[in-house]
Amino acid sequence: MKAQIAVPFVDTNIIPDRNVGIGSLLWDLQNPQDPVRDGLALLDREFAFIDVGASRAKVATALKTLLANDLEMDVDYVATERVEAVPYANVTLLGDRAEKIRGCLSAIFSSKGAACEVKDWHFVVDRNGKVSSVAYSYHLHGNEVWEAYFMGRTFMYAGEQVEFSNPQLDAALAPEVAEIEARIASERKREVDPSLPAPSWNGYKLEKYPLEAGLAKFGITLQKTDVPQRIADRQNVLFVGNVLNNYPQDEQARELDRIATNMQERDMVIVQVDEVATAFIEVLQVKGQGAQKTRECVRWINTKKLEVQQRVPGSGSWRQIRLKPEVERIASRLIECLGRKLSSPEWSQKNHRILVHQYIRHVFMTFFRALPVEETLRIAIREALRRLPAEGGLKGIPVFTDDARDAYGGALGSDPRPFMSEADFIHLGLTNPEAEKPPQVELSRIKIGPRLSGEPNGASKLDWSVFTRAASGS
Ligand SMILES: C[S@@+](CC[C@H](N)C(=O)[O-])C[C@H]1O[C@@H](n2cnc3c(N)ncnc32)[C@H](O)[C@@H]1O
Repeated sequence: MKAQIAVPFVDTNIIPDRNVGIGSLLWDLQNPQDPVRDGLALLDREFAFIDVGASRAKVATALKTLLANDLEMDVDYVATERVEAVPYANVTLLGDRAEKIRGCLSAIFSSKGAACEVKDWHFVVDRNGKVSSVAYSYHLHGNEVWEAYFMGRTFMYAGEQVEFSNPQLDAALAPEVAEIEARIASERKREVDPSLPAPSWNGYKLEKYPLEAGLAKFGITLQKTDVPQRIADRQNVLFVGNVLNNYPQDEQARELDRIATNMQERDMVIVQVDEVATAFIEVLQVKGQGAQKTRECVRWINTKKLEVQQRVPGSGSWRQIRLKPEVERIASRLIECLGRKLSSPEWSQKNHRILVHQYIRHVFMTFFRALPVEETLRIAIREALRRLPAEGGLKGIPVFTDDARDAYGGALGSDPRPFMSEADFIHLGLTNPEAEKPPQVELSRIKIGPRLSGEPNGASKLDWSVFTRAASGS
């Protein structure tokens, strides 16, 4: 297949890594590698993607960029969020007080494990004008990760109620919260009556409606609802990414029924659950109509072990594909290739090589939810190289011929020679799917994790351990 050229880099600093694998999954659903073995494409060329629970705009805008720009998919992308969770504003504190709180956040979250320097943080104001949380970011494998501190409020994490508060941090935040809420109250009064004086936001940065505004910049509309509307005239893909974890376990299947209510025959429902012992993605397809409507599991992916269970069309059996050996093999070859080309002194240091290995492995393990193909591999390589610690020496260099930007997404330097030649790319070697012939395994012999297929009319159950005997010969 023709390589894509001039593909813009994914700005991975904003790609929450955990969702990026949706790119390779959708690609694979659209492009079965072997139509005889894999059946017809499950996903149309043109489709609508409904990103459920887009709590931060960048989570959705980064995934849209990956699908629409990098993979050039014809996608109508919309996002949804519960109306109660759509913020009224983000307020950033400026100056020394902000620094003090940043230090306090860093100290608290570093104490949970490895050193974690908080880079950025702000208050989140809810639709009632109350400060509901503090959002803070830190860097992980070259990626910017955002989390929330709920200020003593209970929240759901992996289906469990969690309460976390830190008295020292609460004490530092309290006067700021009171101050911000007072200003927000004036701001909102003025929205109703513009003759009132505008409050001063000196010492703060106020961003109103940050979710809607951030999404709109990338042409994404927000449905403020907990039951997404269907997009007409296209096959719909309903992406339920880490949303069910917000509900107690015994309510999750019923909640999925509600969220997927408006989907119709042939639509796909993709459920992703991370941060549980068996992190997984389940791909379901809606069958039948009205009272007869069911969801059929067509693929189940263990995202930690990178094992894919794929329904064999027209038969009751499943095929198991192990992605990890292939992905690791390509990652090792890429590292070899870097070792040959990068002569910076850092490269000869063992610690640096270990770090590079970690970054590349991390990007590859998050990118692939199906066997790599040329289109997805090119993007994963760009991504991995773009994230390398700066001493790697790739600034100003394009990764492949005809890239419009350098490895860091910036303008090209005076030497536009790409870092990876086509020969290097071939050397990485994609496995010929014909040669692989993965074993066909009967479903009853596969140990499969929680499944959400069933009748979306209130009868579904989260089925944790349907098949208990371990797969053999795979
Ligand atoms: C952990 S965040 C996940 C964000 C994002 N989808 C991701 O994959 O990173 C869960 C979000 O889902 C939202 N949510 C929960 N139930 C929802 C529903 N029925 N419809 C839309 N959003 C929902 C919550 O308000 C929260 O913002």
